[in-house]
Amino acid sequence: MAKRSIVITGGAGFIGSHVVRLFVNKYPEYNIVNLDKLTYAGNLANLKDVESKPNYKFVKMDICDFEAFYDLMQREKIDGIIHLAAESHVDRSIKDPFTFAKTNVMGTLSLLQAAKLYWESLPEKFEGKRFYHISTDEVYGSLEFNDELFTEQTPYNPHSPYSAAKASSDHFVRAYHDTYGMPTIVTNCSNNYGPYQFPEKLIPLFINNIRHRKPLPVYGKGENVRDWLYVEDHARAIDLIFHKGKVAETYNIGGFNEWKNIDLIKVIIKTVDRILGNPEGHSLELITFISDRPGHDARYAIDSTKLHKELGWEPSLQFEEGIEKSVRWYLDNQEWLDNVTSGDYQRYYDDMYKAR
Ligand code: NAD
Ligand code: DAU
Repeated sequence: MAKRSIVITGGAGFIGSHVVRLFVNKYPEYNIVNLDKLTYAGNLANLKDVESKPNYKFVKMDICDFEAFYDLMQREKIDGIIHLAAESHVDRSIKDPFTFAKTNVMGTLSLLQAAKLYWESLPEKFEGKRFYHISTDEVYGSLEFNDELFTEQTPYNPHSPYSAAKASSDHFVRAYHDTYGMPTIVTNCSNNYGPYQFPEKLIPLFINNIRHRKPLPVYGKGENVRDWLYVEDHARAIDLIFHKGKVAETYNIGGFNEWKNIDLIKVIIKTVDRILGNPEGHSLELITFISDRPGHDARYAIDSTKLHKELGWEPSLQFEEGIEKSVRWYLDNQEWLDNVTSGDYQRYYDDMYKAR
C-alpha cells in the first residue's frame, strides 16, 4: 500500500470524525492530519479512541488561514485533501450568512489556492494528488413530491445561505480543475445521521429533548422529506471515492431512504420510549408544531446509482438498525450530550425556540 499524507479538514465534527476514525484505523501506513478550527461544532472528544495512534495528528487551524495551510502542506508533504470543514447548519445560516460565506466559500478557495501553489512547486506537480470536496444534496434545490430524484446532472438551485455557500464552493472546486488541471472530486450527499452529530440537527436534538421532556419543535406541518444515510456508510463512500473515484467527476451519495419529517419523528419517539421503558406513545405529547423554517426545502432525494454502478458502493445498514444504534448511542452518551449542549449552545437554542 502506498504511503500517503492526507489532511482531513473538519475532522473534529460529525462526519469528519467518522472519516478520520476510518482512515486512521484502516491505513496505519498513512499520515493522517485532522485540521479543525474547533468551532462550537468541533469536538476532540469525538476522537478519543484514535488520538494516541502514531499515524494521527491534530492541528488547530482555520481553513481561511492561507499561510498556515500552505506551511502545513509543505511540512507534512500533503498529497491528499479531504475537505469537510464547513458551517453546516441551515438555521444558523439564516441568522448569520456572512460566517457561512467566509468559511464555506473563502475557506475552500483558500485551501484550493494553497494546494495549487504547493503541488505546482513539486517536480511531479499534480501527479498522484487529490483534492476531494464533500458537498451536499441541498445545492440541487428542492424537489416536488412527484419529481424524479437528484442526479449528478441536476442543475444547481440552492435556496438557503448554507446551500448557496456550499454551491459556490463546489463551483470553485470544479473551476480549479477546469482552469488549472487540479485533480478534484466533488460528492453530494444526503442527510447523515448517527453518533457524534451536534444536537441542533433533527435526530439528536429530538432524542435529547425527549430524554429531558422538552418540546419537539416540528417546523411547519412536518411534511418535508429528507433522504437519510447512516454516517458510517457515508465515511465508507468517502474512502472508496478518495481512492477509486475518477478525477473531475461528481458522485451523488444517498440511501434511497426518504422520510417525511413527521413520520421519522414518530419512529424516533417510538424507539426512545421503548428503550427508556415508557409506555408506547408516551412522548407523542411533546410534538410541538412551530413556524416554518424560512425557505424550507420541501424534499431532497438523491439518486446514487452512478456510485453503485461505477464503484460498487451501497449502504450497509437498514434504516431501522441505524436508528436503533443512534438512539442507543445518544441515550448511552448523555455526558457527551450534556457537554456539547451546555453554556452558549443552550442559550442559542432557547433564544431561537422562543423567537418562533
Ligand atoms: P459539523 O458542523 O458537524 O462539523 C464541521 C466541522 O468543521 C467542525 O469540526 C468545525 O469545528 C469545523 N470547522 C468549521 N469552520 C471551520 C474553519 N473555518 N476552519 C476549520 N474548521 C472549521 O458538520 P458535518 O455535519 O460533519 O458536515 C461536514 C461536511 O459535510 C460539511 O462540509 C457539510 O456541508 C457536508 N455535508 C453534511 C451532511 C450532513 O447531513 N451533516 C450531508 C452532506 C454533506
Ligand atoms: O441534505 C444534507 C444536509 O442535511 C446537510 O448538507 C446539512 O449540513 C445538514 O444539516 C442537513 O440539513 P437539514 O436542514 O436537512 O437538516 P436538519 O437536521 O436541520 O433538519 C432536517 C429536517 O427537519 C428539515 O426538514 C428541518 C426539520 N427540522 C429540523 C430541526 C432542527 C424540524 O422540523 N425541527 C427542528 O428542530
